[in-house]
Amino acid sequence: MNTVLVGAQWGDEGKGKVIDFLTEEADVVVRFQGGSNAGHTVVVGDKKYVLHLVPSGILHNGKHCVIGNGVVMDPFDLMKELEQVESWGFELKGRFHISERAQMVMQWHRAIDKAEEAARPDGEKIGTTGRGIGPAYAAKVGRYGMRVGDILRPNFLDLVRKQVAEANRKLKSLGAHELDADEMVRLYTPMVPALMPYVTDTIQFLHENLEEKRSVLFEGAQATMLDIDFGTYPFVTSSNPTAGGACTGSGVSPRSIDRVIGVLKLYTTRVGEGPFPTELLDADGETLRARGGEFGATTGRPRRCGWFDAVVGRYAQRVNGVDYWAMTKLDVLDTFPVVKICTGYRREDGFVYTTFPADLEVLQHCEPVYEELPGWQCETSHVTDYAELPENAKRYVNRILDLIGGKLGVLSVGPARETTLRIGI
Ligand code: GDP
Ligand code: IMO
Ligand code: MG
Repeated sequence: MNTVLVGAQWGDEGKGKVIDFLTEEADVVVRFQGGSNAGHTVVVGDKKYVLHLVPSGILHNGKHCVIGNGVVMDPFDLMKELEQVESWGFELKGRFHISERAQMVMQWHRAIDKAEEAARPDGEKIGTTGRGIGPAYAAKVGRYGMRVGDILRPNFLDLVRKQVAEANRKLKSLGAHELDADEMVRLYTPMVPALMPYVTDTIQFLHENLEEKRSVLFEGAQATMLDIDFGTYPFVTSSNPTAGGACTGSGVSPRSIDRVIGVLKLYTTRVGEGPFPTELLDADGETLRARGGEFGATTGRPRRCGWFDAVVGRYAQRVNGVDYWAMTKLDVLDTFPVVKICTGYRREDGFVYTTFPADLEVLQHCEPVYEELPGWQCETSHVTDYAELPENAKRYVNRILDLIGGKLGVLSVGPARETTLRIGI
């Protein structure tokens, strides 16, 4: 059984937690896009682990973890994280692999990311994580990127010098500090032996595993509405976090994918700039942020919070072909007397959009249309069986399923491993 798992909203749906849960029955976990802009949290007992680049499957000794060709990997972030993973007591030897074809995020990509963001006027800022993601993908598509396999070349450090010279022209034009090529060479020299043991032909590795009928789990980072093609462009990330990205970012054919699981938070959050039709700037928004602990796992920024948006949910179901939903954070809604679901966006002249518009200006002239349902006003985090949930909570979940399509597979009622109800999968 090969499963693709994707985020359905604007990220931070609880993908890390669900991946950790599904890793029990997988043999290999693969990241296929994004980089250290991701922050995936897994809570085990009283320990909280946050992973940025390393697949969340790493917390299960014995399972293989792969960084696929579609990822942009910062060697410094990776080394820091690998040290952390080892300090937590997990083995890496022989089970962590990086694609030779993955692109590297270099120091100058980070510098350019920050300089470009600073140069954008208010209203045009993206609110990036500052991890160099956009410039690294721009280099990839512009065909001047640096791939992991390049560290194996004898002229790797010459490539570093060449790229620093080019990046400095860009940094200068942005009015930012230029980088020192000697300093960069000094920094990257120890990266060569450090990365070498993990560099693998991951395409070959994945296909051997598939031929042996081992289960592969594809771990999406970011989410559908942050997708470079399907998201709220230009307020997006620079990769394809949607289901199709699992194939292009790993070298596995769509024919090998058996199911798609979408992770859906039962309300909405967004971190960074860009449109968010159901955003709440009132006390209800504060309640969601406080109860949901909605602060970025990567940057610590407070997340914007709002009601569940079924237009987004339906769009994500279609774009990804979601078979099953992993719905998360039901418990965060426990105290609300009324819960709301957005079913469309009403334009000033009364027209209601029930699909997500490509033109973001449209949203500036729209108000969300809400359906109100009674809340359940009791604690759900101790519930271990779907049948035991309060009727109003089931009604809320079922109404969402009616509106967006797909089946319920997993329901999460708390951050910890045990607070995960397996339903239809
Ligand atoms: P990811 O980026 O999709 O992996 O999500 P993050 O880890 O950035 O954010 C999700 C946050 O919600 C983390 O702090 C999780 O520990 C937490 N979380 C996940 N599922 C639940 C849940 O069902 N209830 C509550 N209260 N917290 C959850
Ligand atoms: P996970 O995997 C939430 C957002 C940033 C910014 C935009 C572009 O934890 O769900 P980037 O640094 O990628 O160029 O920033 O995308 N963003 C995320 N928001 N969760 C994430 O990852 C995100 N990764 C990027 O806040 O708005
Ligand atoms: Mg996150």
